[in-house]
Amino acid sequence: MSALAFARPDTSAIPIDLVTRDGVEAWLANLSETQTTWVRGQGFAGQPGRLVLIPDGDGTLARVGYGDPRSPRKRFAFAALRDRLPEGSYYIAGELTGDDLSEAALGWLLAGYSFERYKSAPAQNALLVAPEGVDATRIETIAAGETLTRDLINTPAEHMGPSDLEISVRALAENYGARISVITGDTLLNEGFPLVHAVGRAADRAPRLIDMRWGKGAQRVTLVGKGVCFDTGGLNLKPVAAMGLMKKDMGGAAMVLGLARMIMGSGTDITLRVLIPAVENAVSGNSFRPGDILTSRKGLTIEINNTDAEGRLVLADALALADEEETDLIVSMATLTGAARVAVGPDLAPFYTDDEGLAAALSEAARRVADPVWRLPFHMPYETMIEPRIADLDNAPKGGFAGSITAALFLRRFVERAPRYLHFDVYGWQPTAAPGRPVGGVGQGTRALFDALPEFLGT
Ligand code: BES
Ligand code: MN
Ligand code: ZN
Repeated sequence: MSALAFARPDTSAIPIDLVTRDGVEAWLANLSETQTTWVRGQGFAGQPGRLVLIPDGDGTLARVGYGDPRSPRKRFAFAALRDRLPEGSYYIAGELTGDDLSEAALGWLLAGYSFERYKSAPAQNALLVAPEGVDATRIETIAAGETLTRDLINTPAEHMGPSDLEISVRALAENYGARISVITGDTLLNEGFPLVHAVGRAADRAPRLIDMRWGKGAQRVTLVGKGVCFDTGGLNLKPVAAMGLMKKDMGGAAMVLGLARMIMGSGTDITLRVLIPAVENAVSGNSFRPGDILTSRKGLTIEINNTDAEGRLVLADALALADEEETDLIVSMATLTGAARVAVGPDLAPFYTDDEGLAAALSEAARRVADPVWRLPFHMPYETMIEPRIADLDNAPKGGFAGSITAALFLRRFVERAPRYLHFDVYGWQPTAAPGRPVGGVGQGTRALFDALPEFLGT
């Protein structure tokens, strides 16, 4: 997979005109008579999403007319153009400005993504010259982060086990001069990560806690990503339909790594730490069991009422570690609950925070960068739902009410010191092809966070 990048500035690049139904006559007035006849003959009148390729007198492609596809129903709509164009360099001629222009440029790059580890895809050689007025380097950095996220999620569990995930983090760390340390297998018990060990111990591939540090900025941000490389559900085995996509259960890890790639690649002035509990939730004679009571790193005891609620367990130990040092913000990202998917579907990333300023900054940024998020509440009255009779916490409250909220409340119990905690319960998968987003792994909330954070933290 080659990097998603803009074309070099090219004087022979072909202009793309964005045309509306209302603007079509004025636009035609600037074309030659032959071209006007051609465009009318094609039935092009600025219909949204319609395309007309306009030749020169000598029959070469001179310009492209594109019916303005922008609609509240579809983000990155502009990018749908990319694979309908012949090979060449293009530029956007007018119309789009500001955030719309950045969205179009990023969408174009993302439309060039395909997962090619196992099968090559047809080359997409319609390249875009970076529009004036957008930060091209920044957009390429964002696309590179998103590419990393997608590649990690798309890679099947067989080739993306805990050790493979570690190798990917090591490669990333190496690229940006980040430091990394990893605690693996039974050493997790000595080092105080009993939940990571309990969830991961049944798999042939050893569980581990990956810890990466980068940067020297005054503001300290710790990202924690759920790295369940495959989720069978454990002894509470998932049924067929629910297990099919569970290679994506390391989506939270893939997203924090994609975000880290953006932060490090852009040289954001913060101190960054990334923690990933990487495990496989497998079935074996030594699996943890329903009814077990486990003591977490933090000391809180947890009654296991469903071994399929494993994400909150491994995150609990990682969050406890994150909270042991001074930070300005702790963020967790996880494919944590089916309930989140039921509540908001695959397009919206639900997030939780008690910090009003952070929530507002994030929602604003999400709009700017076309990365939709939706706030859900840490609703205190539901705390009783996660408190069982004979332990401190219940990992799978009965009744199934508010499953995403109770999971978020569970995680929050492990963050006490940090002045701000932000949690994303993401889906991480694009179920049907959309512009810039083929079916497969996809980042959610990462671009919004990347945009909001420095502004919010004042760095
Ligand atoms: N990884 C799943 C959640 C998930 C499923 C996310 C499908 C996205 C799509 C998680 O480990 C899980 O199984 N959660 C259970 C929790 C329940 C047993 C309390 C769930 O949501 O059903
Ligand atoms: Mn599960
Ligand atoms: Zn899971």
